[in-house]
Amino acid sequence: MTVRELMASAHIHRGEAETLLAAVLGVDRGWLFAHGDDRVAKATIDRFNELTLARREGEPLAYLLGYCDFWTIRLQVNQHVLIPRRETEHLVEWAIEQIDAGASTVLDMGTGSGAIALSCKASRPGAALSGIDSSPHALDCARENALVLGLEVDWLLSDWFSAVSGRTWPLIIANPPYIAANDPHLVQGDLPAEPVTALIGGASGLESLLHLIQHARDHLTDGGWLLLEHGFDQGAAVRAALQEHQYCSVSTRPDWSGHERLTGGQWRR
Ligand SMILES: C[S@@+](CC[C@H](N)C(=O)[O-])C[C@H]1O[C@@H](n2cnc3c(N)ncnc32)[C@H](O)[C@@H]1O
Repeated sequence: MTVRELMASAHIHRGEAETLLAAVLGVDRGWLFAHGDDRVAKATIDRFNELTLARREGEPLAYLLGYCDFWTIRLQVNQHVLIPRRETEHLVEWAIEQIDAGASTVLDMGTGSGAIALSCKASRPGAALSGIDSSPHALDCARENALVLGLEVDWLLSDWFSAVSGRTWPLIIANPPYIAANDPHLVQGDLPAEPVTALIGGASGLESLLHLIQHARDHLTDGGWLLLEHGFDQGAAVRAALQEHQYCSVSTRPDWSGHERLTGGQWRR
């Protein structure tokens, strides 16, 4: 079987078939076009068929490849962590603005693969980053990413703020679970393969966001900022909760698609 025939037999999205075959062969995608008539070894065919079957059965491409590109870095990902989303790069942008405005220490709540903390550290090496997660497996993944990328982040196993009593930061950022438990999206796309604890934010979807808004006040320095990613339809609720908890300068930013995606507020003691 040739390279071209093998790709045509995959019955998955063409671009994904190219990405998977290039990964199995250890080549870039351009190579596949120049070598379409080359014959492929049986071991390659078997491995490619295994991967494309898993993809047809719903395994996300990023888990099959074992990595995901985010911001300026490549992150290893596995079934214990959320696959970092493009929208979350807006949170990194906002965090970097705050670091540039003087926030020298940053806490990333629900760090998962370490995507946000490691991106901030990669772009602003002078900042001291901490990343919290309640999943030891997620933290293993974040630690491994930090090691591979040569970036230093303080990783903490904690149920939200429980392990950081008495500590404060000028900047706390989070992309917490924010999907409602009965949301029909949970059975669509890659979501069924991702950890439930990374997705579901309680019955209404807002529970984790509200917990962070309430408790971050004890962990923000005077004038410190809390920046949150949330669902496209949760902007009004998050703004209202921040205002109710006496945060000031509350504002929302859209994502690439124009949906309300990030809301932040400043805490004045
Ligand atoms: C939506 S994922 C975000 C992962 C990563 N920050 C990103 O943006 O790709 C939410 C993360 O919050 C973590 N999490 C959920 N409940 C938590 C809790 N009670 N305390 C700490 N982390 C929690 C999950 O394990 C998951 O890694």
